[in-house]
Amino acid sequence: MYCVKKVTEDIYWVGGSDRRLALFENVFPVPYGISYNAYLVLDEKTVLFDTVDKSVQEIFFENISHVLAGRPLDYLVVDHMEPDHAATIQQTVLRYPNLKIVCSAKALSMLKNYFDIDLDDRVIVVKERESLTSGKHTFTFFMAPMVHWPEVMVSYDATDHILFSADAFGTFGAINGNVFADEIDFENDHLSDARRYYTNIVGKYGPQVQALLKKASELEIQMICPLHGPIWRRNLNWFIEKYQQWSTYTPEEKAVIIVYASVYGHTENVANIIASRLADKGVRNIKVYDVSVTHVSEIVSESFRVSHIVLCSTTYNAGIFINMENALHDIVAHNLQNRTFAIVENGSWASTAGKQMRELLAGLKNTTVLEQTVSIKSALKDDQREDVEKLVDSILESM
Ligand code: FEO
Repeated sequence: MYCVKKVTEDIYWVGGSDRRLALFENVFPVPYGISYNAYLVLDEKTVLFDTVDKSVQEIFFENISHVLAGRPLDYLVVDHMEPDHAATIQQTVLRYPNLKIVCSAKALSMLKNYFDIDLDDRVIVVKERESLTSGKHTFTFFMAPMVHWPEVMVSYDATDHILFSADAFGTFGAINGNVFADEIDFENDHLSDARRYYTNIVGKYGPQVQALLKKASELEIQMICPLHGPIWRRNLNWFIEKYQQWSTYTPEEKAVIIVYASVYGHTENVANIIASRLADKGVRNIKVYDVSVTHVSEIVSESFRVSHIVLCSTTYNAGIFINMENALHDIVAHNLQNRTFAIVENGSWASTAGKQMRELLAGLKNTTVLEQTVSIKSALKDDQREDVEKLVDSILESM
């Protein structure tokens, strides 16, 4: 049975939520589910903005059939070709064979790669700032390459001042009845997952997100309709400011996280002592993470949030401990910048983790790796407490 949400007088949310999915993109845990948003406009012509993931296709087709109430579907605008939104395009075309697909040139290539459907008389390829009029509404298209794939565009409805923003301004988490961000406690309940979504999905592409934000700043936007998570119609600038910080790799907070990799607890012990001494000296809101327990997507997200990151790793197979190495590769892959790192290494016979962590971090722009370090052999000894104090003071000085 259909489950639609009215967004405006003639625009409907016709998506669905999946709470069974273990890993979004087969890598990111989504304990609160994920929504796949699609929007249907009932104008003189009917316009659907994107389709959905296969997992929610049944409710999606019931939704659009209910909203259309027997009318034809005239246009399908494809803002993004990733299958979490595009997997159902072929089925949509089969059900509504007279619809026209509106997309970018790059999306057309992807349509051909993904599907075996006759596209020749069906596709309208649009370029930057070209428009489609459906009657009362005129939609203008802005290319947004690499937010999150190269074919991405966003669609702006100048009539109602709505930005259909594709992946941008999305978040992990199902839609739980309330489809608007102002109907939920977004800051307390969802900001952390919105950050994890942004940083892991498009965090690498800060300059491209900046380019989109610049285009968006020229538009009067009263509502943002993303492809995941709630719709924004109030306090838009608060969320846009988060995107400004994340896409410029600016820390949200002057704060410290300590990320450790420990096999038998000795490296963990140093991490806890550093946290404790930082706290004694006035640092607040410190977070300590075990890389073997906390998912790497959370470590990446937290690294985008704070200004200072302490990495403590044991040496393993003459290198960095596996999960720490994975986390560091992920941080580097996401192009994190403008941060200060501190290094602690452990090695029962030949410590190499510190040197190798420094080498990996050398790939990050505008990043300081504090010279002061702590290197332990198996376990911290009393005569090394001074090294810990020096490292703590060095972190404090850099704050
Ligand atoms: Fe939600 Fe890049 O797809």
